[in-house]
Amino acid sequence: MFISKELVEKIASCLLCNAKPKTIYLQVTTKCNYVCPMCPFHGEGYEGKYFKDNPSLKPQNMPLEEAKGYVDKIVDYGANMVAMSPSGEFFVYPYWEEISRYIKSKGLKISATTNGSFLTKEVIAKLKDIRFDELIFSIDSVKQETYAKVRSPKEKDYQTAINAPILAAESGIYTHVHFVQQQPNIGEKEEVLKFYENSNVKFISCGIELHTSCDKEMTILPINRQQYIHGLCGAYNNIVILIDGNLVTCCGFANRYKYIKHKLGVCSLKEHSIEEVISYQHSLMVNKDEDVMKLCCNCDLYQMTFKRQKEMSIEGKYLAINEQEFKQYFKVPKDLQSTPNHILLWLYQNNLVTKMKQDGIL
Ligand SMILES: C[S@@+](CC[C@H](N)C(=O)[O-])C[C@H]1O[C@@H](n2cnc3c(N)ncnc32)[C@H](O)[C@@H]1O
Ligand code: SF4
Ligand code: SF4
Repeated sequence: MFISKELVEKIASCLLCNAKPKTIYLQVTTKCNYVCPMCPFHGEGYEGKYFKDNPSLKPQNMPLEEAKGYVDKIVDYGANMVAMSPSGEFFVYPYWEEISRYIKSKGLKISATTNGSFLTKEVIAKLKDIRFDELIFSIDSVKQETYAKVRSPKEKDYQTAINAPILAAESGIYTHVHFVQQQPNIGEKEEVLKFYENSNVKFISCGIELHTSCDKEMTILPINRQQYIHGLCGAYNNIVILIDGNLVTCCGFANRYKYIKHKLGVCSLKEHSIEEVISYQHSLMVNKDEDVMKLCCNCDLYQMTFKRQKEMSIEGKYLAINEQEFKQYFKVPKDLQSTPNHILLWLYQNNLVTKMKQDGIL
């Protein structure tokens, strides 16, 4: 049976209105101690353009009481995880410890993506005490020479950052390493995989450098744009509470904030509940609002989450899942590491490793 594009869009739009995200990103700081060249927010080459274009988001810290207020709204909404500070470095936030403890006291889970430069043994012990749930470390090289080019030239930053995932994983926090391929670190992914191979780091994800142009109403990525089907964007419903009190329902809105801010201010989180703000933005989406369509129809973030063809293979001590430009490496549990690759792959393909974990065998 042939289903028209219009019907697919109608069904997709209905479904997206009913989805209830479990994770909410909270931008408590837009400051950072690094100037990674690839970073569209703080990168040297970008010269603060993002913040000039979006002055309400300029590098700043959210007052603690305001941050707590948003956490209360997250509890009321019914999400179960708060992910800290996209576009800044959570651990420069002067109240990172207070807000983390507050989030946990409300029964929520907490996660942060970090450059790792502040995560010394002492800080990790504090995170363990807080019962921090997940840490995602952005490690783009384990070689000091390259790290200096893509992340930080300071030796102390390098030493602390590359060792932090090992210490965090040892302390029992769920630890994930993220590698972004850029010109200076081409070919270094294998070294990163090797470096964490014998640690308790559970998962390594690999992406490619994306380029965000604030001048154009589009995100330019080095991948081909396919047909756009409205409502079928997997990046939609990634909810971010921005530092100025507006909430955005996808990263595409945050990346090109200046084109959509005037529409979002009408229903700000300062005066409304999360449920109300999300419903308002869903209605913009479903009704094909002109400004939303300008962003979506030219947005390549859409493509990242669709047309995925997953291929699985065993590479050393990892299960590798290939999805076009993105690759994920899951550590094979120690008890299974000596299993022949073809049998291991069969176990994964038939979800038996998950079953073994669920049944407590692993
Ligand atoms: C903007 S950072 C904020 C969190 C923290 N400061 C960090 O570096 O992990 C969030 C993630 O975006 C990634 N990132 C930054 N610029 C990027 C780009 N141009 N393309 C792809 N990923 C990028 C970083 O590697 C990091 O994993
Ligand atoms: S550490 Fe993160 S936020 Fe800071 S400059 Fe690098 S990528 Fe951007
Ligand atoms: S296409 Fe881009 S702007 Fe539209 S929902 Fe997806 S990520 Fe957001």
